[in-house]
Amino acid sequence: MDNNIKYVMYGAEEIERKVKEIARQISHDYQGKEVLLVCVLKGSIIFTADLLRYISVPVKMDTIAVSSYGNATESSGVVRLLKDLDEAIKDVHVLIVEDIIDSGLTLEYLINMLKQRQPASVKVCALLDKRERRKNNIIADYTGFIIPNEFVIGYGMDYNEDYRQLPYIGVLKPEVYQ
Ligand code: IMP
Ligand code: MG
Repeated sequence: MDNNIKYVMYGAEEIERKVKEIARQISHDYQGKEVLLVCVLKGSIIFTADLLRYISVPVKMDTIAVSSYGNATESSGVVRLLKDLDEAIKDVHVLIVEDIIDSGLTLEYLINMLKQRQPASVKVCALLDKRERRKNNIIADYTGFIIPNEFVIGYGMDYNEDYRQLPYIGVLKPEVYQ
């Protein structure tokens, strides 16, 4: 499996340092409040689980799943809700947790949908940001790393459902998906 990895972009320790740093910022900014982490399935599960453990203010978690039509490595922008949140979010401080923002179209859909439910606030936390690929002006409130336009896998992120278990974030050899 490692034969398909072009290079390791961020190792496990570097990721851990960054996740702790983001959790510190969140704990500082939500002082005196309770925050609901909305894990966008499935790519964000590991990031959400780690973030959750480092946040020191009261925190809850819910999950949502969307699929965007497109091919394996590129989204079309047409988003479909696969699984809604379990609980209502009226007057709740919502923090959407994403593994990676690419075109930004998935997040735009999610933010618009969740804002209609009258939450106290909606913010976004993304571990990775392929900013040069953005098709709108969505910017996360908390960003781990801004990365170049390469297809990454590991730390929860997949290619055709594989590679999620890798402890690092790696770049897949293009011949794997071309
Ligand atoms: P967007 O709607 O184009 O911003 O797509 C965002 C979603 O596409 C992310 O939440 C990921 O699930 C997936 N995605 C985008 N780029 C990558 C990548 O490089 N590796 C794995 N998944 C990705
Ligand atoms: Mg995702």
